[in-house]
Amino acid sequence: MTIKIETSFTKVAKIEHPMIMGAFAGLGRAEFAAPFSEAGGLGIITAHNFRNVKKFKAELEKMQSLTSRPFGINFSLNPPIEHFARLMNEDNFLPYVEAAIDFGIKIMTTSAYKSEKIGTRLHESGCIWIHKCATIEHAISADKHGADFVVIVGLEGTGFKNPLQNTTLINMTVAKKILKNAKLIAAGGIADARGFLSALMMGASAVCFGTLLMATTECPISEKFKMEKLVKIKGYDDTEFYKRVFHFSLKDSPVPSMSVALIDDIIPIKERIERIMEDSEKILNEWGIKKEIIKLAY
Ligand SMILES: Cc1cc2nc3c(=O)[nH]c(=O)nc-3n(C[C@H](O)[C@H](O)[C@H](O)COP(=O)(O)O)c2cc1C
Repeated sequence: MTIKIETSFTKVAKIEHPMIMGAFAGLGRAEFAAPFSEAGGLGIITAHNFRNVKKFKAELEKMQSLTSRPFGINFSLNPPIEHFARLMNEDNFLPYVEAAIDFGIKIMTTSAYKSEKIGTRLHESGCIWIHKCATIEHAISADKHGADFVVIVGLEGTGFKNPLQNTTLINMTVAKKILKNAKLIAAGGIADARGFLSALMMGASAVCFGTLLMATTECPISEKFKMEKLVKIKGYDDTEFYKRVFHFSLKDSPVPSMSVALIDDIIPIKERIERIMEDSEKILNEWGIKKEIIKLAY
């Protein structure tokens, strides 16, 4: 039997492992999210992938037909920058939020821009609100506005960069020291057991995976992309790749992150998660920690 790690996140999300799927523009649909929930993490449906509430509701039903385990929703908000016009603002999202609440979803994530209106509505209806941001400053603001968890994406992760962005190590350790109420979720460059355990040690209640989940049989991208852009590439030996990940331009689209250095194969999501838990157990054993369950207080 592999080790279990319980945190405040596994408790409120009612899931097996302290792991949440990232939001995925274009990819975050039921076929991709359901296997993550089935494997014991929190699968996420990314709402802006659905042009209208009817299509969004149909996806929630599809998700429910694929898994009876908990799952969440992401609302990626439009920063007030012209290039992001394809995303949505809080008012456009509210009908989606109501549909998710009516459907019985209990945990939802917002990201990319401030989301107090959605957060307030989630709390009124008894849902857990997770806000994902890229800077400690924005994490402090989400904490002030009552977010239950904040995900801070480190510089080494994928996504749009902010000039004040920090590494995952600094994000977790500094935010742990200064946030008043919100619990932390780590994201950015986490793709194996060492990254997973390190994030928990730094004070995260869970980790959020993006790039790693693209290297799975269920991710709806081409096999060519998976082999060439995830498996073959290592990133640390390629200055062009490095520049794409560590750019500060808000124009660029998400690219696989520095996590590619840790990706050697394409396997089912269930195996990905099992591998992380089995390797975690081995590392903890090496440290002399031989327990069936580790219970973290945060
Ligand atoms: C293809 C792709 C699309 C993404 N789309 C979104 C999105 O629409 N909204 C968002 O908040 N984050 C998005 N992200 C970022 C992830 O949710 C997550 O924060 C990030 O990938 C974590 O870093 P990692 O890739 O190093 O694990 C995307 C990531 C990838 C790889």
